[in-house]
Amino acid sequence: VIERKVDSVLALMQPNEKIGQLVQYSGSRDITGPSSSKKDQYKLEKLKKGEVGSMLNITSVASIRETQKIVMEHSRLKIPLIFAYDVIHGYKTIFPIPLGESASWDLEMIERSASIAAKEAAASGLNWTFAPVLDISRDARWGRVMEGAGEDTYLTTQIGVARINGYQGKDLSDVSTVAACAKHFAGYGFAEGGREYNTANIGEFELHNTILPPFEAAAKTGVATFMNAFNDIDGIPATGHKMLQRDLLKGKWNWKGFVVSDWGSIHEMMTHGYAEDKMHAAELAINAGSDMDMESYTYEAALKPLIAKKKVSIKTIDDAVRRVLRIKFQLGLFDDPYKYCNNQREQEAIYTPEHLSIAREVAKRSIVLLKNDNDLLPLSKNIKSIAVIGPLANDKNSPLGNWRAKGKYNSAVSLLEGVKQAVGKSTKIYYEKGVDLTIPTVEAGENQFSRPLKFNKDDRSGILEAVEVAKKADFVLLAIGEDAYQTGEGRSQTSIGFFGLQLELLKAIKKVNDNIIIILMNGRPMDLSEPSEIVPSILECWHLGSESGNAIADVVFGDYNPSGKLPISFPHNVGQEPIYYNHKNTGRPPVKNRVTSSGYRDAPSTALYPFGFGLSYTEFKYSNLNLDQAEIPIDGEINLSVKVTNIGGREGHEVVQLYIRDLVGSLIRPVKELRGFKKINLKAGESKVVNFKINAKMLQFYTANKKWEVEPGIFNVWVGGSSLAELKETFTVF
Ligand code: IFM
Repeated sequence: VIERKVDSVLALMQPNEKIGQLVQYSGSRDITGPSSSKKDQYKLEKLKKGEVGSMLNITSVASIRETQKIVMEHSRLKIPLIFAYDVIHGYKTIFPIPLGESASWDLEMIERSASIAAKEAAASGLNWTFAPVLDISRDARWGRVMEGAGEDTYLTTQIGVARINGYQGKDLSDVSTVAACAKHFAGYGFAEGGREYNTANIGEFELHNTILPPFEAAAKTGVATFMNAFNDIDGIPATGHKMLQRDLLKGKWNWKGFVVSDWGSIHEMMTHGYAEDKMHAAELAINAGSDMDMESYTYEAALKPLIAKKKVSIKTIDDAVRRVLRIKFQLGLFDDPYKYCNNQREQEAIYTPEHLSIAREVAKRSIVLLKNDNDLLPLSKNIKSIAVIGPLANDKNSPLGNWRAKGKYNSAVSLLEGVKQAVGKSTKIYYEKGVDLTIPTVEAGENQFSRPLKFNKDDRSGILEAVEVAKKADFVLLAIGEDAYQTGEGRSQTSIGFFGLQLELLKAIKKVNDNIIIILMNGRPMDLSEPSEIVPSILECWHLGSESGNAIADVVFGDYNPSGKLPISFPHNVGQEPIYYNHKNTGRPPVKNRVTSSGYRDAPSTALYPFGFGLSYTEFKYSNLNLDQAEIPIDGEINLSVKVTNIGGREGHEVVQLYIRDLVGSLIRPVKELRGFKKINLKAGESKVVNFKINAKMLQFYTANKKWEVEPGIFNVWVGGSSLAELKETFTVF
């Protein structure tokens, strides 16, 4: 039915209206007001003529209604606009940054958080989010590492699908859902050197085996839209990449949604040195399958002459327009363009106590216990005294992270506030900031020789005050790490250490108090080598969102037993980046004390805290790994079982992880690859048998034949609580 409707609208459209559907502008409410800038006036005129398909960055029912009204009242065909916004980890109720939330490995909760984000965004009049980010990133220097699900293809795929299901729900026309966007297609997370917008040199097989699977799963899940990427892949800008967009996504994967460019990326193909001029850029992009032009003003200028010159066929334009219209029909915007604009819903459905309580639940599940010597944690709520120290200890803003949509400045529960809520009246709480959080400045980044920090190096007075309170307290919670805006777009760094005087503060406190628990707040893996040697306990708390302080207190004081597992490796130092667990073996794998083996002379080749790692207040033992068959045909299936026992004294969640290695292949296979996981709960002393099925889907890869195939041979399988899992079995595929 929708296809017929799409065709009937298309049949009425004139070329300028068709091209208009492929144009997306950024806007604000000002567009509709009298004091608009020249650019806004220009956009207003285009809206009136029906020459705009979508707006981004307009939020609130009032503004969206007003903008939609312009099109409805002035344009010839009254084709509704679709309104987009970057709703990445919550709309106003802010959830953990995506990397942090991924540490929960909790697909149900992740889907739920995306559905709440969608509900709030939709209540604000929006119908489209630019999420989820499906970029695989193995380099902590890359600022956007915070936006994805980390370094692993399988985990990113599972989480991506959960997020898409959460945003889109079962039916796109439901007013509490929004269209999702799989981005950035493709390879953006492989920016060389972790430097933002940099080129990505990805071999053909790496592309298919590592980068593309989450996108294929997104397409198969029915994600409404894709966004391409700023980077080039081996010399071809993603925006002009025909093989990716036209041949694979729309061809082989037979996906029916539309592709939006990234901001200005069509135009930027000129800067890349791939397009001669605007006309050429538009020609390359549309023919490659980029349907909608975000803010580069290229399609609106070039497509008409390109059609006249027969450089772009009307069939290509119609295909792109059809895709845009299809999503608008699916959203129900043709039935009622103001469908998402309901003032009462906007008042009632956003930032509700229920949403906040789920944000707290998700946040506590995202915390990873990295170190806990002598079971220092959890603390009793009746301790005599505690010092909450550090630049992030009472920070109500950084926990919201970057890309916090409508998350209100300074609205997060700080760590100090969370501790105050949690402990009994008899506990004395001290607080000192100690030092300022200093972050690299844009100016510093532009000049590689200037010192990238802005702080008064001599001002150590805060450290002295912090030491004084640390002396008096039984325990110290030291909140250090990164500011909200140290990660995200345009926030690449060559250092992943603690900026400013943070480590100096730590060392000064250590002299007077051994019971230090680092509460790490950050958006990327950090260099923890020094702190790890100094302190007994480290809790990785990311930027946890609106309920940050409460969630951390839940874990610190034992109301929740931490169950998070790292979705990305934490190195010994930045020189190891990119580092990832599923690397290849090389011809000379690392051997202790052998110079001529693959490795570094000044650091290990393995991570300090590896992928999949995370401790608990209890302990889990793995035993009885059993395969029901040792040999199977290519299309066979093995039932695997493993016994997991909680041998500690507390109830807890464990993420049971399954890894596989194909020992010999037509292409070298990684030393280990995650192929399944299950999050289970075990009471103290309880055992559970966990089952997995090993089938062809888990064993196949994009082989030297350029096909997804299972190759016969011997496979290893491991099950355990991290990528270091040791319990192993072997099977043969014939
Ligand atoms: O969605 C984003 C994208 O991830 C980076 N560039 C800007 C877009 C729109 O805000």
